Amino acid sequence: MNELTALDFGPDFCWGVSTAAYQIEGAPQADGKGPSIWDRFTHSKGKIYQNQNGDRACEFYYKYADDLQLLSSLGIKNFRFSLSWPRILPEGLIKTNEAGIDFYNRVIDSCLELDIEPWITLYHWDLPQALQARGGWTNREILNWFEVYVMLCVRKFGDRVRYWMILNEPMVFTGAGYFLGVHAPGLKGLKNFLPAIHHATLCQGIGGQMVRSELSSAIIGSTFSCSYLESASEREKDLLATSRLDALLNRLFLEPALGLGYPIKDLPVLSRLENYLQQSDEQRMIFDFDFVGIQNYTREIVKYNFWVPYIKADLVKAAEREVPVSAMGWEVYPESIYHMLKKYNQYNIKSLIITENGLALNDEPSSQSVKDERRIEYLEQVLAQVLRAQKEDVPVDGYFYWTFIDNFEWAEGYYPRFGLVYNQHLEQRRMVKQSGLWWQTFLQQTATPKGPFVQ
Ligand code: NOJ
Repeated sequence: MNELTALDFGPDFCWGVSTAAYQIEGAPQADGKGPSIWDRFTHSKGKIYQNQNGDRACEFYYKYADDLQLLSSLGIKNFRFSLSWPRILPEGLIKTNEAGIDFYNRVIDSCLELDIEPWITLYHWDLPQALQARGGWTNREILNWFEVYVMLCVRKFGDRVRYWMILNEPMVFTGAGYFLGVHAPGLKGLKNFLPAIHHATLCQGIGGQMVRSELSSAIIGSTFSCSYLESASEREKDLLATSRLDALLNRLFLEPALGLGYPIKDLPVLSRLENYLQQSDEQRMIFDFDFVGIQNYTREIVKYNFWVPYIKADLVKAAEREVPVSAMGWEVYPESIYHMLKKYNQYNIKSLIITENGLALNDEPSSQSVKDERRIEYLEQVLAQVLRAQKEDVPVDGYFYWTFIDNFEWAEGYYPRFGLVYNQHLEQRRMVKQSGLWWQTFLQQTATPKGPFVQ
């Protein structure tokens, strides 16, 4: 056992695991749920690894009670999950689905009975297909649609849920879904990307304001993907390419919320966002989040590339760099989390929480256990880096491992396994991995803690 203990992070440090509705729930048509863009996208041929889909995922919709028991038995006290918008509002608006609301009531109540704090993400990518039919994130009407949805959620669940996150990784769902077309809804090009960026930024601010107006004591955050970027060389062209990519990947959605506007100076193509800006938008994008969720998995090496439109920057693939890689093909580089914490600390944010970090492997069981020593080693190294940042006065208040159980990893299907718990997908059998047992032992050393902010 490594010398590091959970208590080293302080008695109020918040330890948890993260999940998302489409990746675990399954039951895409159960009890009145409407289709989401991910239901549609995964059923179009050639979009997902081996044409897999989330129809079953982990069947959390049916197995949530046992899964939460298991989670509790590992000593996990904070559970981050997302609400599926079309399970609650099958057509996105107007007609509510009481059975869907009941499901989340049961999940929340089960958490509380087990002394687990529920952390809700309002939007983790599964937009109702009915709203996509009207343009989805490219349509400014989404500001109204989102308000209706958020209002309903806080009114239904706000009596028991204190921790709220507005959006999950807006850069990824707009970039992959509305620019590259590799995620749902599969749209491409700047004409989709730019309005999607602007409307997501507005919803991030508006969502925060709405939760605050309904629930004055809620603890509100939003979560951001980020990559630690290093320039391939000291050449000016590579350095500038790195700062363009930094503006895109690490600053685009956070800076407007902080009142700094879009990072147009470093990424001039973003000036075209002004075409979508209306009066008082800049004000509405601002929200004073109680915490900022950081989601970091790797480092990237950036080089100039004239042929890449708008950004003229490219990533040097991890496979070409002879570095250790995960099942996602990402470099395994625990130190990246330290650099990202230091970077975001420069904005004087009150509280940073690592709302996702983890390692994907191709774990398979052998003689009744999953021996994922590489994950344990990774966790030890990552946590040492988190502690290093904390000791340098970075206000990092929590760490959520991605993810509790092997699940549906979007375009990569079921191939990469991130979980602390193995899922035998066909039979839906769970088996705690060695890393899950390690995590359990690690957490036993804390008195814990309900996390920061709680009296
Ligand atoms: C970020 C996303 O929020 C989550 O849905 C995804 O599974 C993990 N990263 C791993 O890629």
